[in-house]
Amino acid sequence: MIIGFDRALFDGKTVVVTGCGRGIGAAVAAAFLKTGARVIGHVGRSLENAESDLLKRLGSDDRRRLTLITADLSQRGGGQALADEIGAKLAGPLDVLINNAGTMVGRIPATEVDEAAFDAVVDLNVRSVVALTSCLLPALKAGGQAEGGAAVVNTSSISAIVGGSPGSSLYSSSKAFISTWTRALARELAPDQIRVNAVSPGTIMTDFHRRYSSQAKLDATAAAIPLKRLGTADDCAPAYLFLASAVLSGYLTGQVIEVNGGQFMG
Ligand SMILES: NC(=O)c1ccc[n+]([C@@H]2O[C@H](COP(=O)([O-])OP(=O)(O)OC[C@H]3O[C@@H](n4cnc5c(N)ncnc54)[C@H](OP(=O)(O)O)[C@@H]3O)[C@@H](O)[C@H]2O)c1
Repeated sequence: MIIGFDRALFDGKTVVVTGCGRGIGAAVAAAFLKTGARVIGHVGRSLENAESDLLKRLGSDDRRRLTLITADLSQRGGGQALADEIGAKLAGPLDVLINNAGTMVGRIPATEVDEAAFDAVVDLNVRSVVALTSCLLPALKAGGQAEGGAAVVNTSSISAIVGGSPGSSLYSSSKAFISTWTRALARELAPDQIRVNAVSPGTIMTDFHRRYSSQAKLDATAAAIPLKRLGTADDCAPAYLFLASAVLSGYLTGQVIEVNGGQFMG
């Protein structure tokens, strides 16, 4: 991966990235490490995927600044438990929180939506994100005291606005929550010098779509995208770095940046 950012952009900064074992989170965590950050990386439920994605992206110097944690965020209390573990590893303030872990859980037709399905999607994509962030606010407020303040970057989705495709009603709505929560939190935390923004990926070729979309559907989507291709995890990472850096986006808060090759233009 080629990073066009200054290699010292995040020197001395502590960054938490959730869901960074593979996919978008792996590209984001690797990009922070390559620009000098110390990263506390929640890799997902097991280390297995990190070995085939995140760890392959890193040199030995990057790995020295990386701490790995596993946690299941679909469990009630998962966000709080992860925050406790992160708190134990934080030696001081937290500068940047990247809320990325999440998934569709499954394609659930509207006729099959029940309480169990609702809980599974909302616990992972909403409840755990809110709980983790709330528990880490004292550390972020401490980070806000440093020059440039602190930053939270959430992960929404193009489906939050366009509604997604069949079977994604709960997931798409959970991401709409994340977009609105981003704006509300931005307003509330601005006095603490904590900026809150979100990245909204379009159709990004990760395990997410290998699981939930057919090749025919992906080919049709790619053909309809103005840039004529699906996105990659590396297409998304620079938007996270941009929103996390006070040097690059210090006057930006409460914004949702669409990274989608023109698939949706607001
Ligand atoms: N790919 C897209 O087109 C797209 C579009 C819009 C938004 N997004 C969003 O972007 C984020 C990253 O997605 P991705 O495409 O990189 O998907 P991915 O490759 O499937 O990675 C998802 C990450 O979230 C973690 N995760 C999932 N369920 C978890 C659970 N129950 N507990 C803890 N961690 C869990 C995964 O860990 P495990 O290894 O344990 O599964 C993995 O690290 C997600 O929030 C997704 O909703 C993706």
